[in-house]
Amino acid sequence: MKKASIILDKDYRIGQIDPRIYGSFIEHLGRAVYGGIYEPGHPQADENGFRKDVLELVRRIGVPIVRYPGGNFVSGFHWEDSVGPKEARPKRLDLAWFTTETNQVGMHEFYDWAKRAGAEVMYAINLGTRGPEQARDVVEYANHPGSSKFSDMRIANGRKEPFNIKLWCLGNEMDGPWQMGRKTAYEYGRTANEAAKMMKWVDPSIEVVACGSSSSEMPTFGDWELTMLNECYDNIDYVSLHRYYGNPTNDTPGFLARAMDMDDFIHTVVSICDAVKGKKHSKKTVNLSFDEWNVWYHSNEQDEEIWKREKWGPALPLLEDVYNFEDALLVGSMLITLLRNADRVKVACLAQLVNVIAPIMTRNGGGCWAQTIFWPFMHASTYGRGTSLRALVKTPVYDCKDYEAVPLIDATATQAEDGSVTLFCVNRSMKADFALDVDLRSFGALRLSEHIVLHHDDVKAVNTEDKPDNVAPAAGPGGTVDGGRASVHIPALSWNVIRFTKA
Ligand code: AHR
Repeated sequence: MKKASIILDKDYRIGQIDPRIYGSFIEHLGRAVYGGIYEPGHPQADENGFRKDVLELVRRIGVPIVRYPGGNFVSGFHWEDSVGPKEARPKRLDLAWFTTETNQVGMHEFYDWAKRAGAEVMYAINLGTRGPEQARDVVEYANHPGSSKFSDMRIANGRKEPFNIKLWCLGNEMDGPWQMGRKTAYEYGRTANEAAKMMKWVDPSIEVVACGSSSSEMPTFGDWELTMLNECYDNIDYVSLHRYYGNPTNDTPGFLARAMDMDDFIHTVVSICDAVKGKKHSKKTVNLSFDEWNVWYHSNEQDEEIWKREKWGPALPLLEDVYNFEDALLVGSMLITLLRNADRVKVACLAQLVNVIAPIMTRNGGGCWAQTIFWPFMHASTYGRGTSLRALVKTPVYDCKDYEAVPLIDATATQAEDGSVTLFCVNRSMKADFALDVDLRSFGALRLSEHIVLHHDDVKAVNTEDKPDNVAPAAGPGGTVDGGRASVHIPALSWNVIRFTKA
């Protein structure tokens, strides 16, 4: 058995964890809304057409905020189409995903659904084909109490109290050639600044997220952030980051190392935000919203086939990645990375939530089930609250194609308000179990109350409707605590949650 060690100390703190890092995302895309959360006529549908079984799984995974309604979709979206009597809502061609949007689920229906799921809505506005005027209109519609054109329209549509949506995205991936209304960094920075200013004049209590690069692989990454922040720094609160990883070459060790890229990405964006802060002699710190992150590659070819067969159909089964066990391990490491950067990452959204690159899958007319990635997300969202601790990890490392010195043990820890400590740990080794020594002396008497492990002998194992528990968490081998030092057995290739509570 290999050896690794971790020192934790109650005074080595990264910062308070913003619960919004456990956010998710639902876009009007594929079967996320229609055939996902909403399926009138399904045996599990409620009186409004929303599936109760799906809602139950969403509640279980614990998402405090859901980004909506896009994504690329939002860059051609007219929010007015999605409110008012359903029979009067127009059908629109969605140029982002080559589908027809029926607008049968809109702002009111989604808000009510999110509340029932225990989540706030993070609402994205269209800064692709539209601009600051429509942005201020939708804030007025959603958040102004009444006696104005758009707030009265909301009241007439059956909602007297304002929605009070607090977090708004200023468009989506505005640097991407695939985006409707793509802009240069300067054009976007100016537009975002004016939109943010006017939206906050309508409701000064809101916070807004400016679009960073659509990925760190964009040729304009870095320059985009510098240029656009130079234009809008004073009026925005967060910069967005988006990143998806895949394993198309079937290189598991290299794939599992990708969280290191995520960490570099975060540090680079933090540096740029702080450089602009310095340049502007500003007292304000702009933090990060990592509002799209996940594994995404399994469904790419399938999507091309679908579009060849049937462009413009409603609810095409797009981006339906079936996640395997190694994907769950990388998602675990990505969650660890978010926790390690909890001082600057205040919002993050697993993209997405249902059917579309999602932890939850459904069959039309049939069941719903948890994909492999559901589990690490649920564990982190359940136990990773409170304070993020700086874990000093000593571990053997390995080299792979893109990275040198990848830690075999990837770990971090959190402390909850009741004093309990949770250690999250991915063992990236394909073969070796680890004896992990954890120094907990500063916390007083703790006992190892639970060890949860996610492991499967086959890295490509998946969950299906027929075998929903093929990859599922189980009780781990645990360990001992003696004199403030724990010794825990960490199986090869595994996601681990180790909980220490007051003895
Ligand atoms: O999440 C799927 C898509 O990925 C989103 O619409 C877009 O923002 C990103 O490119």
